[in-house]
Amino acid sequence: MDGKVLPLAQQENELLQDLERVLYSEEEIARRIQELGRQISEDYRDKQLVLISILKGGIVFLADLMRSITIPHAFDLVGASSYRGGTQSSGKVIITKDVTLDLRDKHLLLVEDILDTGHTLNVVCEVLKIHQPASLDICCLLDKGRERTINVPLKYTGFQIPDEFVVGYGLDFREYYRNLSCIGVLKPEVYSE
Ligand code: PRP
Repeated sequence: MDGKVLPLAQQENELLQDLERVLYSEEEIARRIQELGRQISEDYRDKQLVLISILKGGIVFLADLMRSITIPHAFDLVGASSYRGGTQSSGKVIITKDVTLDLRDKHLLLVEDILDTGHTLNVVCEVLKIHQPASLDICCLLDKGRERTINVPLKYTGFQIPDEFVVGYGLDFREYYRNLSCIGVLKPEVYSE
């Protein structure tokens, strides 16, 4: 794929060939996000809500979720990385960017693409607590059904998924596949090459 500039639709078709199967289509994701947005708008009415997303995977979800939320709110971004090109967490989370807004006494909702080992959300929560928010909760699109040593409570979950390597809708393998509109399981031969 390196070096080729293709129309988006064609790029998507190429990337789709690397999927073993689609877990959630663009339409299914959109429907679930509308439900989440409605619930969040209700729960945070009259509260100073700030959405915080985690670079890079979380931004596609953030962009859609914030437009499904009908109450006023701000957003900010944290940078964190732990996979560094592989399919398994290194277990060591590096914070690559801090927030820029004043978060003291605000109601923070972390908007994340996937909960896998829990290392990323755990570290980001610790970083955000330093800013003394009024509350801190998590909205995560995908929750991988796996055993975890870290307990990360999710207030809102999009979908429970199997313990397989998924890409699309912000999620990558070696930085590719983030622009797929669906979420799917990557063929093992793609990442074992
Ligand atoms: C991925 C994903 C989550 C995290 C989840 O990020 O976007 O942030 O892993 O895994 P965990 O629960 O095991 O910590 P990654 O480190 O690959 O960075 P990226 O978002 O830039 O792709």
